[in-house]
Amino acid sequence: MKKIILTGDRPTGRLHIGHYVGSLAERVKLQNSGAFDEMYFMIADAQALTDNADNPEKVRQNIMQVALDYLAVGIDPTKSTIFIQSQIPALTELTVYYMNIVTVSRVQRNPTVKAEIQQKNFESSIPVGFFCYPISQAADITAFHATSVPVGEDQEPMMEQCREIVHKFNEIYGEVLTEPVTYLSTNKARLRLPGLDGKAKMSKSLGNCIYLSDDEETIKQKVMSMYTDPTHLKVSDPGHIEGNTVFTYLDAFVKEDSFEKYLPEYKNLDELKAHYERGGLGDVKIKKFLNCVLQEELQPIRERRQMWEQRLPEVYEILKKGSQVAADKANKTLNEVKAAMRIDYFTNENLLKK
Ligand code: TRP
Repeated sequence: MKKIILTGDRPTGRLHIGHYVGSLAERVKLQNSGAFDEMYFMIADAQALTDNADNPEKVRQNIMQVALDYLAVGIDPTKSTIFIQSQIPALTELTVYYMNIVTVSRVQRNPTVKAEIQQKNFESSIPVGFFCYPISQAADITAFHATSVPVGEDQEPMMEQCREIVHKFNEIYGEVLTEPVTYLSTNKARLRLPGLDGKAKMSKSLGNCIYLSDDEETIKQKVMSMYTDPTHLKVSDPGHIEGNTVFTYLDAFVKEDSFEKYLPEYKNLDELKAHYERGGLGDVKIKKFLNCVLQEELQPIRERRQMWEQRLPEVYEILKKGSQVAADKANKTLNEVKAAMRIDYFTNENLLKK
């Protein structure tokens, strides 16, 4: 069986370092591992529209931004296919057929959908399209016979629901769809990077993000303003690590050689943490260290982004060609699905025959 990756992001804003450590970095590693036969990266504009019906311009404007972020982190268009969801009609058609094998109460139980309904104040009026997006996401994944889906932790309920759809479909119509596994980062801090303000999630609407496109000075300012330990008032006070955003970021970003390069008085993160807990280590020092570590990681990404920003017509062609490749692949799966459901009236048996 072929090993195939599919994953995607909603184009509702530029991507930030939470996306990067939570999933993008992992995707690039998988891409470059050479272990996969096909790789698809989807800009999920149709899904973004499920809760942005009144603001299609926002979605439109962010398609290029997400494409640039993909290229910036190292998704390589000669190895992977980057495409735009809405340009693949087969995805919509598959969604319609899958809708018949999912119940309303099952979607209502999906924890991610539940949380989003609350967040978006949809309780009294849920758009039907929004409600169905887990089903459409199963179409995205199965249309490419994806075997691995690298996503952030918040997407696990979507994956669970997708696997249920695969089982149900195959049980009724025969073995057609491929069951995908989720790829998650093994580093806990990377899985759920908090916002700069210490809030549970880095999110555009909370204004607590570092973007992949932020310049050096902006990153520095953001790091220096980060939430640390509110009880750590004087340098000599003992500090807390738990819930201290700077340390969570260090957990996510520190590399083997980071101390040697930027803070040689300490051997490793454990030593630094121990000193902070004892007292005598100031926030400014750990923030400066974090800034160095982050700048090292983000500089090449920013430079690659700037390079692609100079070549927008080429990016446009990458998306256009990628969408054609993706459409062909998804159409093939749609034909398999329709054949299995015996709704292939004009390509297979004559309808007149009993
Ligand atoms: N739900 C994902 C997000 O919010 C985007 C997405 C859409 C996706 N379709 C997908 C991710 C298929 C993985 C596979 O970021």
